[in-house]
Amino acid sequence: MIFAANFKTNHTRKSTELYIKELNEKLGAKKPEDKVYIFPPATALDAYEGDFKIGVQNAYPTINGAYTGEIGVEQLDEFDIKTILIGHSERREHMGESQEKVAEKFSFFQEHDLEIIYCIGEPLYIREKGFEAVMQYLLAQFEGIDINYASLIIAYEPIWAIGTGRSATVEEISTTHRALKKVIGNKPLLYGGSAKPANIKEIINIAGVDGVLVGSASLDADSFSEMILS
Ligand code: 13P
Repeated sequence: MIFAANFKTNHTRKSTELYIKELNEKLGAKKPEDKVYIFPPATALDAYEGDFKIGVQNAYPTINGAYTGEIGVEQLDEFDIKTILIGHSERREHMGESQEKVAEKFSFFQEHDLEIIYCIGEPLYIREKGFEAVMQYLLAQFEGIDINYASLIIAYEPIWAIGTGRSATVEEISTTHRALKKVIGNKPLLYGGSAKPANIKEIINIAGVDGVLVGSASLDADSFSEMILS
């Protein structure tokens, strides 16, 4: 299983260091085959030591250059960051990243050999239209994306389940993952959206779920390690 923590705009450099120290004390007990990822804010990136990978939540598709406020490959290389989240619904929604921009970013970081966790997910009004509408919406988010890229992990995160405390049901996750697996083949497929210690077991036991991408419940090292060790 893959357990990925997306801190979003939470934690500082100092609190991330403490978090990693706490997490490291727990990770000795994790199953060797389980993989842990941590995506801290850009200001807290560093080459931390431990049984996990540090990734970046976002970067600009450039090595370096005149892109005020952004970071590129040169800044990631400094901390040996080799994993990136692309296509998160919060970036599509709040930062206005179009499918075209998301696909450009994907191609660039693919060319630079970064491992990509590519996020897709539908808003509530689409879920309410029924399963066919959901799949149509999700498949459109693969436009311009090379799903055969070797270092690709997909994360299905229904927008209405993110940060709401209300996870998708086992049935919703199961049917959506089954349909997505037909498209993405053997790529790992994570679920994200209000995953937490109370529901982690039932989520990771669903066929077609290869792990979780966790926001709120990952912010506390105890809560996240409880999920990993569940
Ligand atoms: P929550 O776990 O807070 O719902 O966030 C999920 C998410 O967006 C992870 O990328």
